[in-house]
Amino acid sequence: MSAIEKRVKNSDLAPAIFCQQVVSQAKVGNRPILDGIDCKIEQGEFVAILGLNGAGKSSLLRSIAGLLPLRSGGIFVNNIAVTPSTLKQARQPLAMLFQGGGLIPQLSALDNVLCGRLGEFSGWQTLTGFPASERQTALELLDRLGLGEFASQSTRQLSGGQQQRVAIARALIRSPQILLADEPVTGLDIMAIQQVMQTLSQLHRSGMTVVTVLHDLALAHTYAQTAIVVDRGRVVYHGVSQNLDAQFEQLIKD
Ligand SMILES: Nc1ncnc2c1ncn2[C@@H]1O[C@H](COP(=O)(O)OP(=O)(O)O)[C@@H](O)[C@H]1O
Ligand SMILES: [Mg+2]
Repeated sequence: MSAIEKRVKNSDLAPAIFCQQVVSQAKVGNRPILDGIDCKIEQGEFVAILGLNGAGKSSLLRSIAGLLPLRSGGIFVNNIAVTPSTLKQARQPLAMLFQGGGLIPQLSALDNVLCGRLGEFSGWQTLTGFPASERQTALELLDRLGLGEFASQSTRQLSGGQQQRVAIARALIRSPQILLADEPVTGLDIMAIQQVMQTLSQLHRSGMTVVTVLHDLALAHTYAQTAIVVDRGRVVYHGVSQNLDAQFEQLIKD
C-alpha cells in the first residue's frame, strides 16, 4: 500500500491519540506544565517529540497514559477519553517505555519481560511462576528483538542497548497498538542507538503507532515521519520531520 493510500485508509479511523487544549494541574513556576497542548496523532504514525529540557515532553507522554492529573482539556486514545473512570479502557492499547528503562537489574531478561504482565495475573497465579504459555511468548519476543540467547542472564550483565531492548520487549508483551517511549536512546552508544531505533522502526512497519521523545534531530529525520516540537508546555510545531533545525533556531531565539 502506498503512503497516500495508507493515509486515506487511516483517515477513516479514530486518531490514535488526540489531545485537546490539555492543561495540567501541576505547575512550573506559575504556568501549568502542560499549557494548552493540542495535537492529533494518526494510527500507524511514527512521531518524534522534541524540545528543550523542561519543555514538558515527558509530562505529555505521562498525561496520555493517564499519569498526570489535568486541570482542563481532554485526551483521547482510540477515541476513548483518558479520565479516572475510563482509565483502564483508555490505557488498554498503550504501552509506555519510561526514561531509563526501569528494569529490575537482578532479574533475568525473561523475568523482566514477564513483569510487563504482572498487573494482569493475580498474586496466586504467579506464586509458582508465570504460566508456560506466557514464558513462551516472552521468549519469542526476546528472540524477535535479537536477545534470545540472553533470556536467562541477569539484566545488569547486559549492555545498555540490550537492556533497552529488554524494556521494549516488556512493553510489547501486552501486545500494545501504541508505544510511548521516553528518550529510549539517551545514554546509549552509536551501535545501540541504531539497534533500538531500528527495533522501533520495525514495530512501526508492523503497524504500531510509535511516539517517542528524542533529542537528536537527525534521528528524528531518519526514523520518524512527523515531529512534534514542545516548548513551555505547548506544541509549537507538528509536521514533517525534515528541516527541524529551523524550528530549533526559532526556539532558542525566543
Ligand atoms: N509532577 C510534577 N510536579 C511538578 N513539576 C513537575 C512534575 N513533573 C515535571 N515537573 C516540571 O515540569 C517541567 C517539565 O518537565 P518534563 O515534562 O519532565 O520536561 P521534559 O521531559 O521536556 O524535559 C519541568 O520544569 C519539571 O521540573
Ligand atoms: Mg523528559
